[in-house]
Amino acid sequence: AIPPERELCDRYGVSRMTARQAVMELVNEGLLYRVQGLGTFVTEEKVRQETGRLTSFTQDMRERGMEVSSEVLEVGADQAGPVVARMLGIEAGEKIVRVKRVRHADGRPMALETSHLLYERARGILGLDLSGLSLYEELSKSGIRIAEADQSYEAVLVNEAENTHLGVPVGSPALLIERITYDAEGHPFEYVKSVYRGDRYRVAARLRAP
Ligand code: GLP
Repeated sequence: AIPPERELCDRYGVSRMTARQAVMELVNEGLLYRVQGLGTFVTEEKVRQETGRLTSFTQDMRERGMEVSSEVLEVGADQAGPVVARMLGIEAGEKIVRVKRVRHADGRPMALETSHLLYERARGILGLDLSGLSLYEELSKSGIRIAEADQSYEAVLVNEAENTHLGVPVGSPALLIERITYDAEGHPFEYVKSVYRGDRYRVAARLRAP
């Protein structure tokens, strides 16, 4: 929170009008934001993700100097439903491993992520405590060469099943990121749905004329 107007006036020796005007300009530029009844706050810089690079959440956050941790909500074997089966190129009912985690950056929720993995390729992670581990690092150790991914982005609103995990009100803006990840042989091994907080994450791309 920034200090109240009166304090700004005293500290900088300016009139109330000037202080108000300055704060208003910073709000308009998006550097500050107001919360009714609470005050005016400094906008946190969003994590900026460059498209085009296949990285893990752990890599993304570490590159930005942020501390990574996860709250593991679920790790277990299950049967693929029709959608997951189609994404992974298997039959519905075949065995998969599901991992559901709240991904934290600097101790605060950034994303809610549900990964569906081919059972035969991923069963090695079933006994692991993933709260402090990178899934991609563990899969690499077990011989999967993570090579390519198809990824899509969609604007969504945080729902009742997600809001407490993400620490934001129902209806907050979020980014749904879906990924199918392929190994070096071109076989899909992972289908992931991640809901990223809209106030903490942005996607950036460098575009070139055709
Ligand atoms: C990103 C991807 C997911 C992937 C995850 C692995 O968040 N969207 O598809 O499963 O990274 O992250 P980590 O290796 O940190 O567990």
